[in-house]
Amino acid sequence: MQQNIVLTGDRPTGPLHLGHFVGSIRNRLSLQEKDKQFLMVADLQALTDHAREPEKVREAVFGVTLDNISCGVDPKKTVIFIQSQIPEIQELAFIFMNLVSVTRLEQNPTVKTEMKQKGMKDIVPAGFLVYPISQAADILSFKADFVPVGEDQLPMIEQTNEIVERFNNYYPATPLVFKKVKALVPNEGEGRLPGIDGKAKMGKSLGNAIYLSDSAREVEKKVMQMYTDPGHIHASDPGKIEGNIVFTYLAIFDPDQDAVTELKNKYQKGGLGDVEIKKRLIKVLNDTLEPIRIKRENLLKDKDFVRNVLKEGTEKAKDIVRQTFEEVNRAVKINYFT
Ligand code: TRP
Repeated sequence: MQQNIVLTGDRPTGPLHLGHFVGSIRNRLSLQEKDKQFLMVADLQALTDHAREPEKVREAVFGVTLDNISCGVDPKKTVIFIQSQIPEIQELAFIFMNLVSVTRLEQNPTVKTEMKQKGMKDIVPAGFLVYPISQAADILSFKADFVPVGEDQLPMIEQTNEIVERFNNYYPATPLVFKKVKALVPNEGEGRLPGIDGKAKMGKSLGNAIYLSDSAREVEKKVMQMYTDPGHIHASDPGKIEGNIVFTYLAIFDPDQDAVTELKNKYQKGGLGDVEIKKRLIKVLNDTLEPIRIKRENLLKDKDFVRNVLKEGTEKAKDIVRQTFEEVNRAVKINYFT
């Protein structure tokens, strides 16, 4: 049976957190067992909104890779590579730019939200505005069948499929060069982890994240600060479960869900203190993170390990991209010397 091609990507702008673990890394662990998975470390995309922080992006390229491998993404099963080291992807993006209107880019909901969050107002870098086109090139360079993404990335997949349609229409070939791709979105309520402050999303820039590289002590501190039910003042008071982040986390990470159901009942009736449920969560999270920490430490003993993984992965990825690129050049009639 032919394997599906899966392309996933991370923007290297800082260390990964539990939100990434729940939203994408867990998914990668199961996909790598059956599909041909490529994991792009999208450094050029990171530079579209971090142009003045090249050091930070560079460091995060290694950090993000280490985070993924420490969690179990296996470089023998998943090809991990660096976007910028395959220039053909950007050449493809340049060809795609002729297939998308500026208005269409300005209407992209993800880009719009990000521009607002990042305070870009009147100074939107051109590179940032066109990053959905570049992301389409990331995906189509590999002729991916599936792209696992969070809800917020769905407009990127839509944009990619519009490009597929227009490309095949402008540059017909037999067989057609590209086919449409499908998004793999986590089930309702499964892919998103709220921040420790109760905000809908955990995020680096929001300052509400628990990092995969946090120490046990840091995890403890963050859980103790966690948002619960502001009306639950004494342990004996009845408490609310909805919007109570400690219970949201327990529902996701606690291996003993029967015990969690009991705790929920007790909390709602009254008689269970916040400190008690927080202590449980600290243990549950540290049990999840401890094997990841150990693996990270072991990997760090070989200081070239991550670099070598990326180098080998990039070579493998290049072979695939070159094939696509040849077909594209032929279809667009810019294959002068072959
Ligand atoms: N935009 C994605 C993010 O912010 C990262 C990314 C870059 C990506 N290229 C990709 C994701 C290609 C999927 C496919 O997380």
